[in-house]
Amino acid sequence: MKIRYFDHAATTPVKDEVLNEMLPFFNEKYGNPSSLYTLGREAKRGIEEARKRVATLINCEPSEVYFTAGGSESDNMAIKGIAYLNSNRGKHIITSKIEHPAVLHTCQKLEKQGFRVTYLNVNKDGIVDLEELKRSIRNDTILISIMSVNNEIGTIEPIYEISRITKMYNIIFHTDSVQGVRTYSY
Ligand SMILES: Cc1ncc(COP(=O)(O)O)c(C=O)c1O
Repeated sequence: MKIRYFDHAATTPVKDEVLNEMLPFFNEKYGNPSSLYTLGREAKRGIEEARKRVATLINCEPSEVYFTAGGSESDNMAIKGIAYLNSNRGKHIITSKIEHPAVLHTCQKLEKQGFRVTYLNVNKDGIVDLEELKRSIRNDTILISIMSVNNEIGTIEPIYEISRITKMYNIIFHTDSVQGVRTYSY
């Protein structure tokens, strides 16, 4: 029986190009990259090469690229990292009501630690209202976290417009999607 798989938002098969790039690191160059012997150094070289390629792709320094185990860990690291680092400037965060639980739960945790969070409404298609976003910005807003593509309904948020607003107000913008997590800071 032929299977038709329609849940690519939940997980998806790896592309052949990605699989072929990764294969040597599963069965040939499987050393621990922190080890000093040849096998470990080879694995380390692979990681550093990947870091450089990602940096070129998103136009940043290799030292600014961090690899994590997945989306939730990345969201936690980005949101808590930005919040704690900037808490002397302010403690207000803006996000939306339809963010992934990795973002919503992190924001709720921060609220318990004295941060204030505004949860923006979305329209019937799941799009954030840019005027409400602008109205929600306060003197103590340090972070705006809006996903680029919703993991359940596929809505594409206007992240270009949001990034222009965050740049105008000098606020850090964190955005994530099923494809990965990005943090833009201006
Ligand atoms: C927007 C978004 N953020 C975070 C995650 C969580 O990613 P992970 O399952 O790798 O922890 C997902 C997963 O679907 C997601 O869609």
